[in-house]
Amino acid sequence: MAYNLLKGKRGIITGALDEHSIAWKVAEKAHEEGATFVLTNAPIAMRMGEIKKLAEKTGSEIIGADATSIDELENLFSKSQEVLGGKIDFVLHSIGMSVNIRKNIPYTESNYDYFQKGIDVSALSFHKMMSVAKRLDAINEWGSIVALTYMAAQRVYPFYTDMADIKAMLESIARSFGYHYGLAKKVRVNTISQSPTKTTAGTGIKGFGDFYDYANAIAPLGNATAEDCANYCITLFSDLTRMVTMQNLYHDGGYSTTGVSMEVMSKLGVD
Ligand SMILES: NC(=O)c1ccc[n+]([C@@H]2O[C@H](COP(=O)([O-])OP(=O)(O)OC[C@H]3O[C@@H](n4cnc5c(N)ncnc54)[C@H](O)[C@@H]3O)[C@@H](O)[C@H]2O)c1
Repeated sequence: MAYNLLKGKRGIITGALDEHSIAWKVAEKAHEEGATFVLTNAPIAMRMGEIKKLAEKTGSEIIGADATSIDELENLFSKSQEVLGGKIDFVLHSIGMSVNIRKNIPYTESNYDYFQKGIDVSALSFHKMMSVAKRLDAINEWGSIVALTYMAAQRVYPFYTDMADIKAMLESIARSFGYHYGLAKKVRVNTISQSPTKTTAGTGIKGFGDFYDYANAIAPLGNATAEDCANYCITLFSDLTRMVTMQNLYHDGGYSTTGVSMEVMSKLGVD
């Protein structure tokens, strides 16, 4: 059911790789809620071609940009305003990549070139995006910027390796930039800390299946799906959450505040 929550709003949605991507669901929901937007991804991801299907379905244009490149981000924000006919109201940062995770390198033996790459792609890209947007004055007052994160920024999940530190940085950037952007332009910046979700990035993590089941067994509501996450993003892009900024918002069915569940206890053989 749609509520026209984003009627007349213009957005930029990063990170839709295939139909499992959280960003893919956000684009579908934003379209249903009346928004117009540009889709963007790294050129290498766009060569896979899936994003074209989403663009057709949502009547969107695609503007490629490697989120680590200031030049490409400038082009993205300038062209998006031309294509959409005005300043931007919402931006989704849905970008994550760790070469250390991809190559199964244990945390204590992290390769530092890969670590730097992960920081650049998954955290600094968020700072760069907002810095470019602010300099170009590309975002309307009360605009909303959301990035996706995971609770390994607060608690240890050994297999999440360097991404834990990178997500901590991402969340810190949301607070720091959110202060300055709020003061200067009333632009809001938040992160959503999402449940484990079966996407390309998610399932690339070692032991993801077991870990997904574990989180599902702990959370009283179960794991939040990509579609649930998209709905939450829409509320943050809407005018109904105008005073929410600089927050890390848990979207995990209650997982983050549950110590242990009866289900997990019974799996351990405790009555
Ligand atoms: N899947 C999960 O379990 C989970 C849980 C919490 C948070 N998240 C976060 O959600 C976000 C989206 O991930 P997803 O799970 O939908 O997976 P996904 O693999 O579908 O999306 C990751 C996206 O990042 C893009 N990307 C990588 N390098 C890029 C670059 N240099 N420039 C621009 N884009 C680039 C990829 O092309 C891809 O579209 C990530 O930040 C991820 O860490 C995922």
